[in-house]
Amino acid sequence: MGDRLCLVTGASGYIGGRLVPELLDSGHRVRCMVRSARRLRDHPWAGRVEIAEADATDPEATARALDGVDVAYYLIHAIGSGGGFAGVDRRAASVFAAAARDQGVGRLVYLGGMTPADRLSPHLASRAEVGRILLDSGVPTIWLRAAVIIGSGSASFEMLRYLTERLPVMVTPRWVRTRIQPIAVRDVLYYLVACADLPPEVSGGFDIGGPDVLTYQDMMRRYAAVAGLRPRVIIPVPVLSPWLSSLWVGGITPVPGRLARPLVESLRNEVVCREQEIARHVPPPPDGPTGFERSVRLALRRIRDADVATRWSSASVPGAPSDPLPTDPDWAGGSLYVDERTRRTRASAERLWEVVEGIGGEHGWYSFPLAWRLRGIIDRLVGGVGLRRGRRDPRRLRVGESVDFWRVEEIEPGRLLRLRAEMRLPGLAWLELGVGERDGRAIYTQRALFHPRGLAGHAYWWAFRPFHELVFGGMCRGVVHAAEDPAVPVLPA
Ligand SMILES: NC(=O)c1ccc[n+]([C@@H]2O[C@H](COP(=O)([O-])OP(=O)(O)OC[C@H]3O[C@@H](n4cnc5c(N)ncnc54)[C@H](OP(=O)(O)O)[C@@H]3O)[C@@H](O)[C@H]2O)c1
Repeated sequence: MGDRLCLVTGASGYIGGRLVPELLDSGHRVRCMVRSARRLRDHPWAGRVEIAEADATDPEATARALDGVDVAYYLIHAIGSGGGFAGVDRRAASVFAAAARDQGVGRLVYLGGMTPADRLSPHLASRAEVGRILLDSGVPTIWLRAAVIIGSGSASFEMLRYLTERLPVMVTPRWVRTRIQPIAVRDVLYYLVACADLPPEVSGGFDIGGPDVLTYQDMMRRYAAVAGLRPRVIIPVPVLSPWLSSLWVGGITPVPGRLARPLVESLRNEVVCREQEIARHVPPPPDGPTGFERSVRLALRRIRDADVATRWSSASVPGAPSDPLPTDPDWAGGSLYVDERTRRTRASAERLWEVVEGIGGEHGWYSFPLAWRLRGIIDRLVGGVGLRRGRRDPRRLRVGESVDFWRVEEIEPGRLLRLRAEMRLPGLAWLELGVGERDGRAIYTQRALFHPRGLAGHAYWWAFRPFHELVFGGMCRGVVHAAEDPAVPVLPA
C-alpha cells in the first residue's frame, strides 16, 4: 500500500484537485500534470507535489510527465471548450495512452461518465470513446464510470444547486424524470485511491454509484429540503428540447453555456449502475456508500457552518473533498453577492484600526445614520435583534461578541475584522473590514458579502442594491474620515 509515484492529470480541475491530497495521505508520491503550474499555486498541498507542465495533446511533454510513473490518473476533459470537444478529447487520450505504454506505466485509472445502453449524448459518447482508447493501450486500465457527482464545485452539482435555489416554481423539460444514480465525491475519491493498489491483471470498466436511484426532480426536491428551502413545485412539459433547455439552464445558472449544454443533453440518458463488479476488487467505502441527502449536507457544510467567507478569500484551507477549493471556477460554490470598496487614507494604519475595532454601539456605523437605524427598526419589526444590543466594550472586540445586529466571527488585530449578520435575512451576510498598507499609506478595505437563500434572498439583494452607495459607500468614506479627523473621538478615555 502507498509509496507509488502517481501522476494526476487534470489536477487543476474538480476531481484532480481533490484527489491529490487523498493520494498523499495514503503515502503515495504525486506528480501533477497541468497545462499551467500557476493554476496549482493556491492549493495547500502545492509544496508537496512535483509539477510537470504538459498539454495532453503534446506527445513529447506528455511522455516527460509520464517518465517513471507507476499509476497515471486520467482526469482530463475538454467539455467546457465548446463544440469541438470530442475531437480534442480523442486526440488527448490517444497521445496519453501511447505515451503511457511507451514509458512502461504500470496502471491507468480513468474516471468517465456512465455508458447506458440507449443512444448516448455527444458528451457521454465522447467519455466512452476515451475509456476505450485508454483500455486499448495495453496498459492495465481501470475505467470508473460515474453519474452525477455530488460535492461543491462539481459542474453537475452546481447546476442542480442553482436551479433549485433560484426557482421555487419550475416548468421543466421531460428529462427531470430520467433516473440517475448520483455518488458523493468522497466515495469517488475512495475508489480512485483504491485503484492504485489493484494488481495488473484487473483491467476493465466498472460502474460506481451511491445507494440512491433518483430522478432529477427527486434530487431537486431533496436538495431543497436539505438546504432549508420551501418545497419546489416542478411541472414537466414535453415541449422543451435539449437545446432550449440548455439555453434555459444557461440563463438561470452561472454555469457557462458551453459546459451546461453538453451536461443538459446528457440528462436524457438514464445513468444507473448496470453492474456491481467493482465490489469484487474494492470493498465498499468503510462507512458504507454515502446517501444523497448526506452528500448534499456535506456539500453545503461550509455555508451552513457560516464558514463561507473564508472560502472566497485566498486563505481558504479546504477540510473535506465536498468543500469548495480556491481553484474552483467562479461559478462554483453557490451564489455570493459582494459589495467591495477600497480607500487610501492619510491616517496611520494604527489609527484606522482603532476606528475599525471601535465600530458599532455608540460610535455607530459611519454612514447615513438614518439608514442603519431604519434597518434596525425593520429588523425588530420582523422579530430580529435590531440595533439595540450595542457592544460590550467601546474599544476592544473579541471573537463571539455581539455588535448591534452583528457577531464577531474573526478578528486579526490591526488587520481584519469580520462580522456575521444576526439580523433577520433571507440568507447569510458578512461585513469584512480590513486595514492594509501600500506605498507607506494606510488602505481601508470593506466587503459586504451576501449568500442568498432561495429566490427571496436574490430579490432582497437586488431590492436593496440601489441603497448600497448610501449605506456601504457612505460607511467606507465615513470610516476613513473618522480615522483622518483627530477631532473624532474614537477611543473614549
Ligand atoms: N464532475 C462530475 O460531476 C463528473 C461526473 C462523472 C464523471 N466525471 C469525470 O471526471 C473526470 C474529471 O472531471 P472534472 O469534473 O474534474 O473536470 P474539470 O473540473 O473540468 O477538469 C478538467 C481538467 O482537464 C484539464 N485539461 C483539459 N484539457 C487538457 C489538455 N489538453 N491537457 C491537459 N489537461 C487538460 C483541465 O486543465 P486546465 O486547468 O488547464 O483547463 C482541468 O484540470 C472527467 O473525465 C469527467 O468525465 C465528472
